[in-house]
Amino acid sequence: MNIAFLYNVRHRYPDPKKPQTLREADFDDPETTELQIKYLKKLGYKVFPIEANEEAYFKLYRLKSKIDLVFNVSEGLHGNDREAQIPAMLEMLQIPYTGSSPLAQAIVLNKSKAKEILIANKIPTLPFQLFKSRNEKLNKSLNYPLMVKPVSEGSSAGITNKSVVYNEAGLHKQVTYIEETFGEQALVEPYLEGREFSIAMLGNPPQVLPILESDHSMLPKKYMPFDSLEVKWFYEIATSGKHLKCPAKINLVLEKKINKICLDLWNAIGIRDWCRIDIRCDKKENPYVLEVNSPPGCTPPEHDPASYFPLIARSIGIDYENLLKMIIETALKRYKK
Ligand SMILES: Nc1ncnc2c1ncn2[C@@H]1O[C@H](COP(=O)(O)OP(=O)(O)O)[C@@H](O)[C@H]1O
Ligand SMILES: [Mg+2]
Repeated sequence: MNIAFLYNVRHRYPDPKKPQTLREADFDDPETTELQIKYLKKLGYKVFPIEANEEAYFKLYRLKSKIDLVFNVSEGLHGNDREAQIPAMLEMLQIPYTGSSPLAQAIVLNKSKAKEILIANKIPTLPFQLFKSRNEKLNKSLNYPLMVKPVSEGSSAGITNKSVVYNEAGLHKQVTYIEETFGEQALVEPYLEGREFSIAMLGNPPQVLPILESDHSMLPKKYMPFDSLEVKWFYEIATSGKHLKCPAKINLVLEKKINKICLDLWNAIGIRDWCRIDIRCDKKENPYVLEVNSPPGCTPPEHDPASYFPLIARSIGIDYENLLKMIIETALKRYKK
């Protein structure tokens, strides 16, 4: 079987002090891509690696008759709907691919549109305001402390200790930072102080894999208790994710609530094959969806043992190679119907 592997490669390591590096935070580094290709080859597939840049369409067009399936881990290059780019090309070329459709991809990359769909479907997510300009006034329904984040980024890009704001001056400063760094609107929502979970889903219909907890009580004092860029890209890497627990220790009531939220979200947004959902609780352990990751990060364990999806899969005995195989087989089954 022939697989085209579609990826975006990061050329610079994310550095909070160098905003221009943050735009590539969601991409994979060259070692990750190399290893992923190696694993696919080990599974016996013939692999055509294609970087998801401006030339990708021509390569796909030329190889169309040879490609049985695209394994898509690309994020897309430009614009706020970039994660939909490769799926849209593949629809046009009628090449089967792993993961969600252009519509679902565009929705999940835009945290505010995704939340509108969740709210319409009565799936718990926080109330929010999208700041179209830095001078917009805060809605009276929102109270400090608030979290300010870019509306269409990932991998904690633009999220630092300063993202929690306590007053109008702090809010204005942070909305301005998002606007200037990403050329993007800022999403503002209440700051939640409870536990945080990440949930991997796989299959059609999906299986909810064991819940992972990011235990922020274990973080050194200099970090705020959430997954800022510093925590994800420095602490987590340096400690191989010491603060990550899978399966999380949670009571049955919360587990059931989370499972239902994830399955409802999958159906409401129309996810396919695999995704990862980030959920955070308030102090009373009421869970709220923060965002959806599709495709989720999937770095091999020898390069990053803390990469969430493979870590969760390992907790039920699915190694990296088998995980890739399961994603591929899940996608192929959809096209055989
Ligand atoms: N409303 C919030 N309250 C508290 N922490 C938050 C909130 N929103 C985001 N965070 C923290 O920031 C991290 C990154 O935010 P998230 O919405 O998942 O965006 P990304 O796409 O960058 O992963 C979360 O994992 C969480 O730790
Ligand atoms: Mg997240």
